[in-house]
Order: sequence, then structure tokens, then C-alpha cells
Amino acid sequence: MGKALGAAYCNQPVAHVPDMALNDLRDFIRALEKNGELKRIPFEVDPYLEITEFADRSVKQKGPALLFEKPKGSTVPVLINAFASMRRMEIALGVDNIEDIAGRIAGYLQMQRPDGLLDKLKMLPKLAEIGSAFPKTVNGGPCKEVIRRTDFSLNEFPILHCWPHDGGRFITLPLVFSNNPKTGKRNCGMYRMQVYDGQTTGMHWQKHKQGADHYRRLAQEGKQAKMPVAVAIGADPATLYSAILPLPPEIDEMMFAGFLRGKAVEMVKCETNDIEVPANAEIVLEGYLNLGELRNEGPFGDHTGFYSLDDDYPVFHIECITHRKQPVYAATIVGPPPMEDFYMGKAIERIFLPLMRMQLPEVRDICMPPEGVFHNLILVSIRKSYPGHARKVMHAIWGLGQAMFSKVIVVVDEDVDVQNASEVAWKALNNIDPQRDIEFAMGPVDSLDHSSRLPNYGSKMGVDATTKWKTEGFTRRWPNVIEMSPDVVKRVDDLWKKAKL
Ligand SMILES: Cc1cc2nc3c(=O)[nH]c(=O)nc-3n(C[C@H](O)[C@H](O)[C@H](O)COP(=O)(O)O)c2cc1C
Repeated sequence: MGKALGAAYCNQPVAHVPDMALNDLRDFIRALEKNGELKRIPFEVDPYLEITEFADRSVKQKGPALLFEKPKGSTVPVLINAFASMRRMEIALGVDNIEDIAGRIAGYLQMQRPDGLLDKLKMLPKLAEIGSAFPKTVNGGPCKEVIRRTDFSLNEFPILHCWPHDGGRFITLPLVFSNNPKTGKRNCGMYRMQVYDGQTTGMHWQKHKQGADHYRRLAQEGKQAKMPVAVAIGADPATLYSAILPLPPEIDEMMFAGFLRGKAVEMVKCETNDIEVPANAEIVLEGYLNLGELRNEGPFGDHTGFYSLDDDYPVFHIECITHRKQPVYAATIVGPPPMEDFYMGKAIERIFLPLMRMQLPEVRDICMPPEGVFHNLILVSIRKSYPGHARKVMHAIWGLGQAMFSKVIVVVDEDVDVQNASEVAWKALNNIDPQRDIEFAMGPVDSLDHSSRLPNYGSKMGVDATTKWKTEGFTRRWPNVIEMSPDVVKRVDDLWKKAKL
């Protein structure tokens, strides 16, 4: 990815919609296998730490996704690292390049009011495409092949104990569904779940997340003692992926999944409550939270590469498990970067850039390097137009959805390639007078930040590494970057060949 990326979104036509939507996790496994991106492990491997060690080594060596056919203690296979490369992200979302999705989004954002009949007709395919993205409620589906209202236990599933000092086994790739009690709008978020016993787990939705908001609203209303929740494990990749997207509460993740895959997600109502889940899910846990019931959750080897500390979170009580015949259990591990979640995050960075540019058109490109584990570092290039512009951009990003968690934001001029961390470090370090160019702000921080003075509240740092202007009080001359003259470069290209270097 290069420096032209950000700019490229501006004029892109609407790229084609994926025409071969993957219908479920099994389709995804087949597609990965066909593309040489999956390795089956036919012998016994223990979900207690051993699968983590396999998955960690594989991702660090840029190896394939892994399908453990015989996890120790269970008849259910484990799929892991299915999203752990950009190629796998592309297969998951049915595109040749993740930038195609950004292009599609940019195309919709640029949609203008049609002037004449011809323009209206031209718009019809796009409108039809939007219409087909809406989720569809169906009466049944594969996730209901086996319905177990009694006699079920989480212990039958190969749920991973990821790292040595984890508080227990964790469901790491769950799609947690709940409804907003005021508007009835659905939310789907990915929040890890610690297994306490065969019928109970933790519900690790952090304070700022939508599931936690639904819970707080219900508790404040005081009308009911329980909150219904349903959890889907394993679905088609676009649906699975949508659970992690930082979408505003008004946007249904299942609608976005339909948009990504070019086909509506089919949703089916649970057996024991009114929540709908993807009909193609491998496993569904139906249950409830007692409002006010909290239990110690963690520690857990986390995205940051450190153990996040134990804390109190709500408890999920399972009333019914439904699943496909011979289900596949989808999992991930997080830990010292880069892990699978880095690639999921990289795709978010690319897909959401056009949306960020709607509000901040001066932004050319952004990059969240793996070492920054999503929130710790954002590199931003801007087309600087007025004094203090870099600082305006920092504060705007701190006000933008989950980007509010950004701990360090480095703003550079548009000619700096933010995808090249070494170029950013070189130019930024040359360009700053630290006392003058660093901006501190207080605000909400990610719940996983172990260094902030208080949980969820701390400071952020913005670095204005742009060229300084006279109008910003910089009265000295600013030097140019050293570059060879193009005619010399061209001449030496030929001489270089002649010298056989
Ligand atoms: C593998 C993985 C695990 C995650 N685990 C959690 C978690 O335990 N708690 C949490 O609040 N967010 C977690 N997240 C981040 C959320 O899924 C993400 O912030 C999402 O946008 C939340 O959705 P919401 O805005 O609908 O609440 C995780 C993300 C990934 C990729």
C-alpha cells in the first residue's frame, strides 16, 4: 500500500459487488482450502495452550489458517487464523483487494441527487444493491439442526485456554446479540466470554460498547430483572467480521454484513427469546444476564500483548444451545502482535477511511501499525491548509467513535507515506520541536489500557509533525528533503546496468 491510497478513494467508481457470497463457515473453509490458505491438522492437539502455540507460530511465520480436526477432549473441530492475512481477509469479503470495498463505500457516499430520468435509471442498480443488503428474517435454518434445551454443556466444545495465566477458558470469536430496550434496534458485537461452567460465562463488553449500553439502559429502566442475549459462534465470514466493526449504533451490523457480502444475511429467532441470530451459524447460545449480577472475569492474554487484569463483568446464563449437525468451532487468539486481529484491524483501517474522510476531507491516509495494537498509535497524513490544522485533526479523531481511544496520534504532511512507519519516524522526528509540537488531552481510554491513571480515563498525545508555517509562529526557514535530480537518476539507471551492479 502506498501514499496514493488515500487520494485514490476520491474518484473511484463503485467497484463490483462480490458475486459469490460465502454462505457459511463451511463455504469459507472450502474457499480457504481452494486458495491454499488452510492446513488441516489431523492429529490430536490440546485446546489447553497447545492450539495457541500452533496459531501463534503460524501467524508469525505468515503460515496458513488451521483446522484442528481432533482437538483433545471434543469431537468438534476448531478453525483458527481464518482471517490472519490480507489475502484471507480478501477471500472472506469476496474481493481481490480490500481497497475495492473502500471504493464501493466511497461510491455510495458520493451519490448525488439524480437530475434527469437517465440519471435516475443509472442509480437503480445501486439502490437495488442497498435494498438487498437488509437482513431477512427466516423461519428456520441450519443453526437449528440440533436443539438442546436440557442436557447441554459448554464442556463439549473445544473452547481454548489461550495463555498460561488466563483465568480460564474463553470463547474468543463470539457474535453477541442484544436489542436496545428503547429503540428495539439490534446490536452485534464481539466480546470475549470466559467459561465459568457448562452453563455460565462472563460477558466482557467494555463500558463504551453497545452491549454494555443496552445493559445499562435496561438496568436504569428497572422494569425487568433479566436481559435476553444470544451468541452465535461461527458464521459466514462477512457476518463474523461485521461484529468487530466500529459502526455507529444506528447501523445494524447485519445490514453492513449484507452490504459486504452482496447478499442479505438470513436471521432466525431464538428458541427461548426474541433475539435473532444468523441462520447459518454453527453454534448458538441462548440465554440471559441478571441485571446487577457481576462476577470476576480475567485475567486474559489480550490484544495488547499483556495480560489484561481481572475485573467484574456481567454473567451470561445459557438456557438453550442450538447447533448444526457436526458443528465447527471458530476461534482466535490475541497476544503479542501481529496476531489475527491485526489483519482484521488493517481491513477496518482501509474500509473506514472513506467514512473518516467524509468528516475530515483533509485526511489523505491513515495507518495503525501492528505495534500500536489498534488504539495506541495512529499515523495520519493531511493536506495542511491553515495554521493549527494538525491539531484540529487530532481533536477531531479523538471525537470520532471508537477512534476516541487513540492514545498517540502523529500527524504528518500529505507527501509522507504513513504506510511506511520508518519514513514517518524519520520525517516526524526531524520536524518536531517537542515542547512546541506535542499536544496532551484528557479523555476516555480503552479499557485494556493498563497504564492510564484510572481505568477507562487518561491522557492522549498528539504530535504535530507537519511543516511549520510563519502563521504558526515559525519564522525560521524550513529546509527541503534531499532528493537527486530526476535526469541524473535516469542517466545512472543506464550506467548502473552497464556497471552490472
Ligand atoms: C478478536 C476480538 C475480540 C474482542 N473482544 C472484545 C471484548 O472482549 N470486549 C470488548 O468490549 N470489545 C472486544 N473487541 C472489540 C469489539 O468487538 C469492537 O470494539 C466492536 O466494534 C464492538 O461493537 P459495538 O460497538 O457494537 O459494541 C474484540 C475485537 C476482536 C477483533
